[in-house]
Amino acid sequence: MSKNFDVVVIGGGPGGYIAAIRAAQLGFNTACIDEWQNDKGGPAPGGTCTNVGCIPSKALLQSSEHFEHAAKHFGDHGISLENLRIDVAKMVGRKDSVVKQNNDGILYLFKKNKVTFFHGRGSFAKAVEGGGYEISVAGKAAETLTAKNVIVATGSNARQLPGLPYDEAKVLSNDGALRIGATPKKLGVIGAGVIGLEMGSVWRRLGAEVTILEMLPTFLGAADEQIAKEAHKAFVKQGLKIELGVKIGSVSTEGEGVTIAYTDAKGGEQTLAVDKLIVSIGRVPNTIGLNPEAVGLQLDERGAIVVDAECRTNLPGVWAVGDVVRGPMLAHKAEEEGVAVAERIAGQHGHVNFDTIPWVIYTSPEIAWVGQTEQALKAAGRAYKAGTFPFLANGRARALGDTTGMVKFLADAATDEILGVHIVGPMASELISEAVVAMEFKASAEDIARICHAHPSLSEATKEAALAVDKRTLNF
Ligand code: FAD
Ligand code: NAI
Repeated sequence: MSKNFDVVVIGGGPGGYIAAIRAAQLGFNTACIDEWQNDKGGPAPGGTCTNVGCIPSKALLQSSEHFEHAAKHFGDHGISLENLRIDVAKMVGRKDSVVKQNNDGILYLFKKNKVTFFHGRGSFAKAVEGGGYEISVAGKAAETLTAKNVIVATGSNARQLPGLPYDEAKVLSNDGALRIGATPKKLGVIGAGVIGLEMGSVWRRLGAEVTILEMLPTFLGAADEQIAKEAHKAFVKQGLKIELGVKIGSVSTEGEGVTIAYTDAKGGEQTLAVDKLIVSIGRVPNTIGLNPEAVGLQLDERGAIVVDAECRTNLPGVWAVGDVVRGPMLAHKAEEEGVAVAERIAGQHGHVNFDTIPWVIYTSPEIAWVGQTEQALKAAGRAYKAGTFPFLANGRARALGDTTGMVKFLADAATDEILGVHIVGPMASELISEAVVAMEFKASAEDIARICHAHPSLSEATKEAALAVDKRTLNF
């Protein structure tokens, strides 16, 4: 006997579980299927983000930052410590318990919102005559579900370097990188993107000698150039070795460690010997086990599910959201799409504004931005004004002892509308929200410049950068 639902969501990551909750809130009889297992074989909803992504990486970033503060900065505050040590196993255990709190939290939210959860793999079986789909669940107990509306949120997997599968012992994806049991003496990272910088920072802070090899000649090409330069300077000063413009050759895992042969930017042949290697060269959409062929669900050449601007697939009643479709692979983008799709199924006007999705890299200094970069505005020939304000001139940053970086505003030359805000510095992840709100409301730089910001606070740097657009900073 099949169980019938109004909405079946396949995948319980940020895209899927949020879509399921919103659909249930809107009155739909909703099921969510997720196959992630914890180490005891039990359910662990939350997807990549909760299990091997956003949440555990931020837990380790926090722990390692505390360690670095204690080792390098407590002395400035007159605090002295002897025999400072890090118990990596305990740190990783804390990370695991943070993950579990989030898994349990999602199971609680399913109960609270009356979402029926199935632990197992969901796959399309067939289209049902008269509309809707049959979905098989393969788990501890096999189930068959039917629904008129299906939301696919099956996420993404780490991209492999050709010929170099992940063994998660020496060659690590994000999964293994979050489970290293003791600080490696030498850590190699291929790809100076978000994961490379975040995970490289964690293990450098804990004492590893970290070398990051990046294919592109420019550092963090997606970020504003001025911000990327400032961040690069800070990372190199901290001791991260970042080599740009490299071409990876052979990678050998024979013997104890990993040896990477590569060509450097000048064409010189190099080798790097490390204990462990993180490969973080992007992610690929995941439809493994979904059986899209059974219903003719269309994928593109990258394996992403083809959707329109509103997340409709080529099949009536089938929607797809998050990492498995086009657009940035970010948890909050997946969530916004999940909410919008549930609302569209209910006949409402769900909306995602792709122009105001913030990006954050949780290194120290943090990097965050929303909107357009200066180089993009130049390339588009758009007339703009720029204003920057350094944290060096911000009282709260001085009191914190963290004055690296700046806030940068880009505004339209004629209308003063904010076109982009870029931050490198302390708590950039939190500060960027003000810019997102401002851009959603089509604010001008002058609007932010005239708003009263608490003193002393890092947010005053945002106000001052907005004032800088009109060349009238007060504290610099
Ligand atoms: P996922 O989170 O991948 O969830 C998909 C779920 O579907 C999984 O649980 C999977 O098991 C399940 N599934 C797949 N196929 C099936 C099937 N057939 N049946 C049943 N279940 C299935 N983003 C941020 O915004 N901020 C961050 O700080 C951040 N940090 C990150 C750090 C790392 C190390 C990584 C790897 C990623 C990070 N991301 C971050 C990206 C973020 O994790 C993803 O964008 C987000 O998880 C995508 O959500 P999703 O719901 O589309 O997919
Ligand atoms: P990424 O796309 O951020 O970076 C990959 C990097 O690897 C790029 O700089 C690319 O030029 C480089 N690269 C690709 N092929 C290479 C090769 N053969 N040799 C050397 N370098 C190569 O991807 P990453 O870091 O794997 O992360 C995947 C995604 O996960 C991110 O794009 C982001 O969407 C998400 N994420 C988000 C985080 C956040 O929001 N804070 C944190 C971590 C991940």
